[in-house]
Amino acid sequence: MDNQAGTILVTGGAGFIGSNFILHWLANEPSDVINLDKLTYAGNPANLASISSDRRYKFVQGDICDRELVADLLLRTRPRAIVHFAAESHVDRSIHGPDDFVRTNVNGTFSLLEEARAYWSAMNKDKEKNSFRFLHVSTDEVYGSLDAAEPAFCETTRYAPNSPYSASKAASDHLVRAYHHTYGMPVLTTNCSNNYGPFQFPEKLIPLVILHAISGKPIPVYGDGLNVRDWLYVTDHCEAIRTVLSRGRAGETYNIGGRNEIKNIDVVNTICSTLDELRPNDPVLPHKKLITFVKDRPGHDRRYAMNAAKIEGELGWRPKETFESGIRKTIQWYLANQSWIEGVTSGSYRQWMATQYSL
Ligand code: NAD
Ligand code: DAU
Repeated sequence: MDNQAGTILVTGGAGFIGSNFILHWLANEPSDVINLDKLTYAGNPANLASISSDRRYKFVQGDICDRELVADLLLRTRPRAIVHFAAESHVDRSIHGPDDFVRTNVNGTFSLLEEARAYWSAMNKDKEKNSFRFLHVSTDEVYGSLDAAEPAFCETTRYAPNSPYSASKAASDHLVRAYHHTYGMPVLTTNCSNNYGPFQFPEKLIPLVILHAISGKPIPVYGDGLNVRDWLYVTDHCEAIRTVLSRGRAGETYNIGGRNEIKNIDVVNTICSTLDELRPNDPVLPHKKLITFVKDRPGHDRRYAMNAAKIEGELGWRPKETFESGIRKTIQWYLANQSWIEGVTSGSYRQWMATQYSL
C-alpha cells in the first residue's frame, strides 16, 4: 500500500478523545483511519459503533508496548501520520496504582517512537520522509499548578508535573522532543486542558456528576471545591489536533485551551441547575442537595490555565463552543444515551467507585 493514500494511524482511538477524534476525522477528511487500541477499561468500541461499516475505518486490538505488532502494522498500512492518544489518563487511578501509567505512557510511547523511527528512517523518498508526522497528544498537567494570580501556561513554561499521571506524560513529552532533536523525526506535541463531551468515561468529574445527580447519589467534591480547571469541549480539541497535524511546524509544541477557567464547585452547580430544568422528576431536587465535600485528592493541583496564543496566532485555530453551550450539549448527550452509560458502569467501574469513594 502507498502511504500517500493518506492513511493515519491513531492509538487509543477507542477512548474518550480518540473516539471523538476518529468520528471528527472521518466526517471532515477523505483518508483512512487505523485505530490501534488495547481496550483497557477506558476503551470502548461502542463509541465507534456509528462507523463500524465505514470502509475507511479499521480497528486493531493491541498494545502500543507490543513492538512486533506495531512494526508489522506500520509496514502493512504505511500511514502518513501517527496520532498518539493511547495512555492511562485518570489522575486518581495514578495515585492508587502508578505502574500502568509508567508502562503505557512512558514505555509505550518509547516503543511507539522507536518503531515509528525505524519506519520513518526506511522511507526512501525525501518527500515522503518530510511529510510524515508523529503527533503526540499531551496535557497541561505537565506544567504543574498555578496560583490564582499567575499567568496561564505557555509553551515555554517550565515542566513541573505533580502526580504520577502528569509525571508519566511529562516523560513521554521529553522523549518525543528528543526524537526530533536527535534524529530529526518530524514530531508535533499538543498540550491540552481539561476536555468534556460525549463518550467520556464517568470516572472524570463532569460525567460522574451528571450520573450521580440523575440517580440521586452523593456528588463528591474534593477539598474546598475551589480548584480551577480550563474546560474545552472535546470537538474543539479534535479540530485543534487536525489543524496542528496539517499546518503545525515539525518539532514544535502547541498549547490548546478553552479560556474557560472555572472553579470545580461552579462546574458542579451549573450541571445541577441545568438538570433541575431538564429533569424535574429526579429522585432528589434541587440536584445541588447531593453535593458532598469529601477528602481532597493527594497533591491536588490548584489551578490550570492555558495560553493558546501560539496555535491561535500561527494556525488560526479558535474554540467554537462556550462552556455554557458545551455543557448543555454534554448533559443532553448523557441523558439521551442511557444504554452507553449502562455499558460502561458495570463490573470494573463499580469496583473503582468502591475503592475511590466511600461516601
Ligand atoms: P481515555 O482514558 O478515555 O482513553 C485512553 C485509550 O487508550 C483507551 O481507549 C485505552 O484502551 C487506550 N490504551 C490504554 N493503554 C493502551 C496501550 N498500552 N496500548 C493501546 N491502547 C491503550 O483517555 P482520554 O481522556 O481520551 O485521553 C486521550 C489522550 O489525551 C491521553 O494521552 C491524555 O493524556 C490526553 N489528554 C486528555 C485530556 C482530558 O481531559 N481527558 C486532556 C488533555 C490531554
Ligand atoms: O488537564 C488535563 C487533564 O484533565 C487530563 O490530562 C487528564 O487526562 C484528565 O483526566 C483531566 O485531569 P483532572 O484531574 O483535572 O480531571 P478530573 O475530571 O479527574 O478532575 C477535575 C477536577 O475535579 C479536579 O480538580 C478534581 C475534581 N474532582 C474530580 C472527581 C473525579 C472532584 O472534585 N470530584 C471527583 O469525584
